[in-house]
Amino acid sequence: MSKKITIAIDGHSSTGKSTAAKQLAVKLHYVYVDTGAMYRAVSFFALSENLIESGQLDREKLVERLPEIKISFVYNKETDRADVYLNGKNIEKEIRTLEVSSIVSKVAEISEVRAKLVEQQQAMGTEKGIVMDGRDIGSVVFPDAELKVFMTAAPEVRAERRYVELVERGDDVTLDEVLKNVIERDHIDSNREDSPLIQLPEAKLLDTSNMTREEQFELLVSWAEAAIENS
Ligand code: DC
Repeated sequence: MSKKITIAIDGHSSTGKSTAAKQLAVKLHYVYVDTGAMYRAVSFFALSENLIESGQLDREKLVERLPEIKISFVYNKETDRADVYLNGKNIEKEIRTLEVSSIVSKVAEISEVRAKLVEQQQAMGTEKGIVMDGRDIGSVVFPDAELKVFMTAAPEVRAERRYVELVERGDDVTLDEVLKNVIERDHIDSNREDSPLIQLPEAKLLDTSNMTREEQFELLVSWAEAAIENS
């Protein structure tokens, strides 16, 4: 049996990271963890507990209430994905709205939130055999990951993909709103003080602007196989 490795997939929002990472994990029989879902779960908590007033997040209150937040993943047979749960309640659908997207980067700037989630993420990866996607996986969560990938695509391409997804779900949004959100999140994610999104020199660059999902997948699998071989 081949050796199990750790695969860190970071990159800009709406680059297709989750889909590619999930597919790769299935192919390798690895565990897949979507860390964006965890930041979204904390954001959903803040929204549902009224910790946001006229668009302003009460950071202090959220930090105070962090011990109340328990995030878990439970396999969903219907979608063949792990759904995210907040304190025992499935919130997979609720965390994908533009409302959550518009505050999640602010929540992810808070060091106390990051420390809590990073600890849980590291605990999930102690056995290796894991594909984790996010913004700081290769830099902070698993700096020793055997394979690191940085995914990006032109903002317009990413906004268009996200827009189609949201409209298909029945969300009432415009392409312009989605593009604005994509650009704003890129800016906050890349410029925050704690664990900003960076392209590490050792990370393999995957620019999906002009690539089909099949092409992305093929490339990822070849990188993973080479990394397993070399580990
Ligand atoms: O991958 P996503 O778009 O669902 O992530 C949502 C937000 O969470 C994103 O704007 C940045 C933040 N995030 C982060 O700061 N660190 C991670 N490891 C994952 C996500």
